[in-house]
Parts: sequence; structure tokens; C-alpha cells
Amino acid sequence: MKRRLLIVDDDRDSVRLLTAQLINSRWIEVCGEALGVEEAWAKLQENQPHLVLLGGIKGTERGVLCQQFRLAFPHLSFIAACSSNELMWEPFFRNLGLWVIAKPIEPGQIEALAMMIQPPGMVAEAAPQQHQYVIQEQTKSYPSQPPSFSEPITGSLVPEMTRSKQLITVYGPKGGVGKTFISRELAIFFSMQKNEGVSLRVIAVDFNLDLGTFATTLNLPRTPNLFTWVKDLDTQLHSYIQGQGKDPYSISSEEWQEYAQALPLSPQQIEKYVVAHPDTGLHVLTSPRDIRQSFEIRDYHLYLILETLKQSNYDVILIDTAPDTTDATIQALFFAEHVVMVGNPVVDSIENIQRLLKLLREAEYPEERIQICMNRLQRKEMFSLDEIRAYFQLHPSKKIFSIPDDVEVKKSINTGTPVMLQSGRIPAKEAIETLGKALFPVDEEQVKADGREKPKEKTSLFKWLWG
Ligand SMILES: Nc1ncnc2c1ncn2[C@@H]1O[C@H](COP(=O)(O)OP(=O)(O)O)[C@@H](O)[C@H]1O
Ligand SMILES: [Mg+2]
Repeated sequence: MKRRLLIVDDDRDSVRLLTAQLINSRWIEVCGEALGVEEAWAKLQENQPHLVLLGGIKGTERGVLCQQFRLAFPHLSFIAACSSNELMWEPFFRNLGLWVIAKPIEPGQIEALAMMIQPPGMVAEAAPQQHQYVIQEQTKSYPSQPPSFSEPITGSLVPEMTRSKQLITVYGPKGGVGKTFISRELAIFFSMQKNEGVSLRVIAVDFNLDLGTFATTLNLPRTPNLFTWVKDLDTQLHSYIQGQGKDPYSISSEEWQEYAQALPLSPQQIEKYVVAHPDTGLHVLTSPRDIRQSFEIRDYHLYLILETLKQSNYDVILIDTAPDTTDATIQALFFAEHVVMVGNPVVDSIENIQRLLKLLREAEYPEERIQICMNRLQRKEMFSLDEIRAYFQLHPSKKIFSIPDDVEVKKSINTGTPVMLQSGRIPAKEAIETLGKALFPVDEEQVKADGREKPKEKTSLFKWLWG
């Protein structure tokens, strides 16, 4: 039985072309074309498609449109076709449960995806032989699977399953606001906590690829580092490609990317690339030592590293970022369960955050993931937190976290001793503890840092499946 495809796109010519290309398909029957939103609604109802290809419709947000369609037709599968300049939104679309394919659309790609969707009552068929690799690759590269006919992913299941692992990205669109300081303190805080009686396994990752200072702020060596892992990934990719009977030096960059996405991951190898903080056992994946090495880090490396971290048995993955919108930062934002958006209570920093929030809202980034943190609050500020909240148009239930300006911070940066490891009342330390507890609820009793290796937590099946 063929899968029924509805094509929604206002580009009449490309719709016609695709329909013509699929006319003899054994796997797909184009059951309708819609050039506008009204028409799409009507045809979703009347033509009963199995899957919907969403190209662009002028004046509409594809993410919003897709959410509305999915609400009304929860059993359908949706594919977003993106042009190369839209592909940066791919992780975001994936999070919404859409499949993503790049334009120009190859009919074979749609056929391959269609074969993965099994309508109720339909017996599994053998996929078209020539597309088997594509299917395998799609499974690999799109881990948040869109809802299938038999097992729709429900909103309530996923957060419950993933609760035990958190990827937290500390970001702020301005330099010098305290991202690295807060990342360091949060990482140390978590590494001293327990969850259900077991010490948390924590890794801090320095995604300031060219000018990272995370290791320095803990007096840690810079080798091994992210680039050590990148080199190993390329070696693994070479042998993987050779194992597939291809010459890695003569394949196109597209093929290279495809192989990269299909490369088997080795989360058990991560420890080879980290340095351990002696006092707490915190693992740190530091940025490269030489700025030239950072230029060799590509988006597929970062993708593989983030995917591997997600599959590892770390409970908390904490990423410190640069104040930019490079690929490393964008990927760190889209992979995160929580984003700590750091700013200072000064006009330009507030304005930068406001602009970024606007951008993320336009892209329908799930705002509940973002925690705003105002760092270096003085006793008397020009703007109150309530004024800042109103300016950001935050939901009334949303708290703005604040960290006071504290003389102890500068000292602790200079000595490489986190405030979190110091005794006595330090206001900045208490504020970070509050933030940490909100990000990842832990047992109340705190583990004292004693420099001993923490017991390894057994990785449960669910963590591997959903982590
Ligand atoms: N709460 C604070 N109180 C006092 N000084 C702070 C505080 N947070 C950060 N700083 C100072 O700001 C400097 C820059 O912080 P850093 O974390 O490197 O910023 P970013 O990573 O955003 O560029 C630090 O070296 C520290 O001296
Ligand atoms: Mg920094």
C-alpha cells in the first residue's frame, strides 16, 4: 500500500515537479497539493494523507503551522523541506517532531522517509533497496523521532524519562557578563550533589572554541581537549568510510557529512578526552590549546560530540559558550534542556538579551527552557528585576535569578578556587546554589568535596534510550 503524501508549498512549479517525479513511485502517492494555508486545512481533512511535506508558505511560520496541523491531526507525520540557509533551524524542527530534509528535494528521500512510517493495519514492507542507506542514516541523524502511527510521542513521557540527565547551556550574547564564572560554579555545585543517594556525574564543556578559559579558571591543564577528540573522530570516520568500501579522500563533502551522521558513537570513550578536577572529580572537556586547531573543528564534529555526550552516563552536562552565534553556540542551545541566559543589569546587556529572546521566540524556541540570570547585581540598581522582567515580557510565573556583585568572585577567579568550595557566607555562592537547585533538583544533603573518585552510576536502559 502506498503512503499518501500531501504537499504544502506556495511554489507551484516545484510542487508540480515533485508530483511529476513521484508519479511512478511504488511507495508514494501524492494525494494533494496545497498552495496556501486554507487549502492545506481542507486537504488535510478531505484527502486523508499519511504524511505532509511542508515547504514554505509566505507570511506563515512553518513551526507554528506544523504545531497547529499536528494538534488537529496528531497521527500524521510531517517533513519540513529547508533551503540551505534555513538548515540552521534543523535541530529546532527536530525538537518539534518534524523530519527535516534539504532542498532541492530528491524524490528518493521522501520515499525513504515514507517507508519508515507505518500506518495502522499496514504490514511492514521491504524498503526500496537503493534507499536503505538513507533510511538508516535518517534514523541516526534524527534521534528525536517524529510521532509514528503506532507510537505517538506524548508530551508527558519525554520529560519524565529525561529528567535524570540534563544538558545545561550557559549563554549570554555579551562578553564579560559572568558566563564562565557561573558555568564553573554550577559545574562544581553539581559535582558535589547527590541524586537519590548517588553522587552526580558531571562534565563541563568549554565551547569557547577559540578563546576558552574554563580550564584556566580551575587551574587545570589544557590537554587532552576537544581537539584531541576531534582528531580521533576523524580517524574513526576514515576507517568507517573505508569499511563501507569507499575511499575517504575521494568522496564529496555531502557524503562525508552523511557518513559522519551514521558513525557509531562511543560514549564509553569520553573519559579519554577529559581532565578531572582533583578536588571534586568534575570532568572538564576543555577547548583547544591552539587557536588554529579551533578552526579545524566543523559542525559535524560538534554534532557528534554533543550526541555522544547525550548518550553518556553523565547526569549533568554543563556547556560554557562564547557570546556569539557560531555553530558551536547554536548547537549548544538546541541540544540543551536548560539554557541559563546570563546578563548584567546594564542597558546594553539587557537590550542584547531582549533581542535574543525576540529572535528565539520568532524561531519558536521553547521558552520554558530559558532561565534568565542577572549577574553582578549591586545593592542599588537603576532597574529592578521586576522592570527587567516586564521589559523581557516574561511569563508571570517565570523567576529571574540574580547573583550579587561580590568581591569574593574576583579573588576566586584569580586563585582558581571556586566560591562553591569556600567556607563561610559568600552571597554569590548562595545565589548560585539557588540557581543550581532550580535547574536540577538534587538531594538536600550536600556531599563534601573530598577528592575521592565518585562511584560510577550504573547506566539504566532508559538512560541509554532516552538520554
Ligand atoms: N558576581 C560577580 N561579582 C563580581 N565579579 C564578577 C561576578 N561575576 C563575574 N565577575 C567578574 O567578571 C569577569 C568576567 O567574567 P566571565 O565569567 O569571564 O565572563 P564571560 O564568560 O561572560 O565572558 C570575571 O573575571 C570576574 O572578575
Ligand atoms: Mg567566558
